[in-house]
Amino acid sequence: MKLSSFYKESINKHPINPADLLILINKIFGLSKEEFWSHGTSKKISEEDIGKINEYIARLVENEPISYLTGEKEFYSEKFFVDRSVLIPRPETELLLEILLKESDRSSSILEIGPGSGIISILVAKINKAEVTAVEINRDALDIFKKNIQLHSVSNLITPLLADLFPPVKKKFDIIVSNPPYLSESAMKIIDTNVREHEPVTALLGGKKGYEIIERIITGSPVYFNYGGKLLIEIGYDQKDYVTNILKSNGFRDIIFYDDLSGIARVVKATR
Ligand SMILES: C[S@@+](CC[C@H](N)C(=O)[O-])C[C@H]1O[C@@H](n2cnc3c(N)ncnc32)[C@H](O)[C@@H]1O
Repeated sequence: MKLSSFYKESINKHPINPADLLILINKIFGLSKEEFWSHGTSKKISEEDIGKINEYIARLVENEPISYLTGEKEFYSEKFFVDRSVLIPRPETELLLEILLKESDRSSSILEIGPGSGIISILVAKINKAEVTAVEINRDALDIFKKNIQLHSVSNLITPLLADLFPPVKKKFDIIVSNPPYLSESAMKIIDTNVREHEPVTALLGGKKGYEIIERIITGSPVYFNYGGKLLIEIGYDQKDYVTNILKSNGFRDIIFYDDLSGIARVVKATR
């Protein structure tokens, strides 16, 4: 069978995004989109290849995100390995990263809580040469994080640890940064099925009300700060007021919120 006929047949038969099928074709045959459109009509594919693509198509039909099928995702123009143990990096997290990049330099010591694939720790280490300790609770996510640390050659700057929010040894940091799980139980019920059914619940659910982990980060962080240390957290669309109150009652000052492209307060910065 010719590749172009297989492509046409598949998009007519299955409720899948044609762009995702082109990504799979690229993964399996190494053909770029342009190469597919120019050579797809002459390229023959074997029964074995058809079987392989059909297995991936079945996963797409089950709403599995394409990044889990390819095992990678681009963030901030860099490639990162992902699998089902980590959240697929979201473009809105660039806001948190950009604030972190502005707030830090090579002399900064940074703690990241919940690195997942490691996008934040790795990019601040790579771009600003800052030293990062990163604490992840999910062992499988920590393995992916370590693979990405190798991929980006930053193992000299990053200490990945398996723990619950804070490092087991008391160390002080200039910046504590986190994109924590912040969805409530009710929000979990209405998010896209591909997210709810395929992305790790430990990366999404922040507790019954959604802000429980954020609250634990705010109340637990003061003993880990150097004087004047800064806390940077990505938050949910409806958490600004609650987060302001917990920050104030834990002695934080200079509380600033940064809006995302939809005008929603998405990141908070506060000084201790
Ligand atoms: C929303 S994801 C963010 C991942 C990544 N930093 C990013 O921005 O794409 C939250 C991460 O926090 C981790 N996590 C959840 N609870 C944690 C805890 N109590 N201690 C440490 N990490 C935790 C999750 O496993 C997940 O990797």
